[in-house]
Amino acid sequence: MSDQKIPVLDLAPATEDFRAQVIAGLSRDPKTLPCKFFYDETGSALFGKICELPEYYITRTELKMLHERGVEIAAALGPRIELIGLGTGAGTKTRILLQHLDSPIAYVPVDISKEQLTQSTAEFSRLFPALEILPVSADYLNAFELPRPIRRAARRVVYFPGSTIGNLEPRNAREFLRKIAELAGAHGALLMGVDLKKSKAVLERAYNDNAGITAQFNLNLLARANRELGADFDVSRWRHHACYNERDGRIEMHLVSSSRQKVHLSERSFTVEPGEHIVTEFSYKYSPDELTAMGKQAGLCFEQLWSDDEQLFGLFLFRVEDRA
Ligand code: AVI
Repeated sequence: MSDQKIPVLDLAPATEDFRAQVIAGLSRDPKTLPCKFFYDETGSALFGKICELPEYYITRTELKMLHERGVEIAAALGPRIELIGLGTGAGTKTRILLQHLDSPIAYVPVDISKEQLTQSTAEFSRLFPALEILPVSADYLNAFELPRPIRRAARRVVYFPGSTIGNLEPRNAREFLRKIAELAGAHGALLMGVDLKKSKAVLERAYNDNAGITAQFNLNLLARANRELGADFDVSRWRHHACYNERDGRIEMHLVSSSRQKVHLSERSFTVEPGEHIVTEFSYKYSPDELTAMGKQAGLCFEQLWSDDEQLFGLFLFRVEDRA
């Protein structure tokens, strides 16, 4: 299997989807832009830098836990599993997990970035020659018709890392967990990385880094709309703003206009007032109890939580509830 080039199944949304969603978002009050569009080539590279920032503890903590508790986690998942990775990007975390697993049968990475999938698939087929790899380029929120491996696995385990669950509104997150439970099926499991609730100061620092990388990441959404859709955002007249909304338990990322301006896109014109915000991302933070309750409502039974000494981040293991 190792020297074959494995094709990526391409189910990624087309440019038209981006255009339609930008127009719809700019027509709302308050204006919004969906955070899933952060990740073009430039955005993915900036996100890679965010993950290495001293203030952004999320990636570092999940990686450390996978290294230090990998044996325990692998034992809890069991041998001969089929691993489905949702939004696994370059695959750094999944690689560590796979290295600990006992004779995994197959790996199905699902990610919007075809480039990252092609690279990680080539790397993984060298590292794990016995593993069947079935990469799918898709918006994982809608990709539930996944290819099936040739060999039969003992169980399906979905790995959803990076606290991406936090980027969904809680009601959508619950619905998504329900779909994951269905996807994993009988005896299946979900291993999910989640950013835990903590002090406002620590959270706000993580989304307002000193080097200004998160600001560039946020502003790239406007630059991307200019590049790909021919919009005319004047990026210099927008600034990044991120704050923790304690009542709703979420970081909110906004782009704030410094002046009155007009933005044109596909023969439409949108007027923006000075100080007006575009909401670009919510990042919900959960307590272990909140997450356990959400899993329960979605048909997932909490089994185990691995956390770091400071309780910054949690790796939650759920098992699909038996249907009597
Ligand atoms: C991908 N996601 C979990 C990140 C987060 O923390 O919500 C995206 C991000 N936005 C700003 N920094 C990182």
